[in-house]
Amino acid sequence: MLTKETLHRAVETLRRGDLVALPTETVYGLGADAENELAVRHIFAVKGRPADHPLIVHLADAEALDAWARDVPPVARTLAAAFWPGPLSLVLRRTARATDAVTGGQDTVALRVPDHPLTLEVLHAFGGGVAAPSANRFGRISPTTAEHVREELDGDVDLVLDGGPCRVGLESTIVDLTGERPAVLRPGGVPLDALERVLGHPVEVRSKSAVRVSGTLASHYAPRAGVVLTEPMALESRVHAEQSQGHRVAVLSPTRPPGAVFWRELPAEPADAARVLYSRLREADAEGATLILVSLPRPEGLGLAVRDRLHRAAAPRPPLPSPPGRGKG
Ligand code: TXA
Ligand code: MG
Repeated sequence: MLTKETLHRAVETLRRGDLVALPTETVYGLGADAENELAVRHIFAVKGRPADHPLIVHLADAEALDAWARDVPPVARTLAAAFWPGPLSLVLRRTARATDAVTGGQDTVALRVPDHPLTLEVLHAFGGGVAAPSANRFGRISPTTAEHVREELDGDVDLVLDGGPCRVGLESTIVDLTGERPAVLRPGGVPLDALERVLGHPVEVRSKSAVRVSGTLASHYAPRAGVVLTEPMALESRVHAEQSQGHRVAVLSPTRPPGAVFWRELPAEPADAARVLYSRLREADAEGATLILVSLPRPEGLGLAVRDRLHRAAAPRPPLPSPPGRGKG
């Protein structure tokens, strides 16, 4: 529960057209009044995000769907009933309420009802839609604690609501419902098999994460250090190889491989791995790792989303400046 004062402050901040960082069950969002074009443009400026990357509009409940989407197919209601509030974003044809600023000029809008008590309180009290991308700078790791948001956005956000660590730990599953058949655009907090069970048929995954095209994936969800992925069996020899190349290797895996200098647990259970993944990547950066070696969780349940984010983090990217004060000599 928010105090009356904090709730009032959050709503007033949104009404004024300022930015509020909000906890959700997936990751923290950088929220603004979705119908205030200046406020929405401010999100893009703070994130350093290209204007053609559309935002997700967060709603208080499924009843608000028809205000934001038109020609809503029955399957949208089915999915909303099954998964909202929860980590599922639905792409639908927009109404005029979803402006070009939010949708990047597309005729579609992504909508979701997040599952976090504080943010639901704010959404109900605010009454409108809140456009919110993850509360990180463009291309970087999404924040899963209020502390991450403060580290990352510092003075650029007017209010940060602290709702504790995020329960899911990575972003919502995005399902496009504007085509012939539903298609997953981004694997996320709702596992594919859960979607398929509700829909009663297999669902196509149209995410581009498996395609290593420099430019489209470059530096997305990326820590500062390079990321190398291995299957669990190959981990130990890879640790030795990279360490002997002079890398300061941070290993993320279920158990510590012999000889690893810096290790953090990445649980074998996919849902547990999802919850801690982004924190672990941040910790590895903070420890000054030059390379993060990650043992991939099995591709089941949330493991698909974890692997998707890791493949993006490991994709080719432009070199970032090395942190100051750590010269080679
Ligand atoms: O869990 C989440 O989804 C978090 C929390 C804060 O809700 N939000 C989030 O937002 O991850 P963001 O902006 O980091 O990612 C939103 C994704 C982008 O990849 C964007 O391209 C896609 O949603 N998206 C938004 N509107 C879309 C649309 N109309 N059609 C297709 N993709 C869309
Ligand atoms: Mg993001």
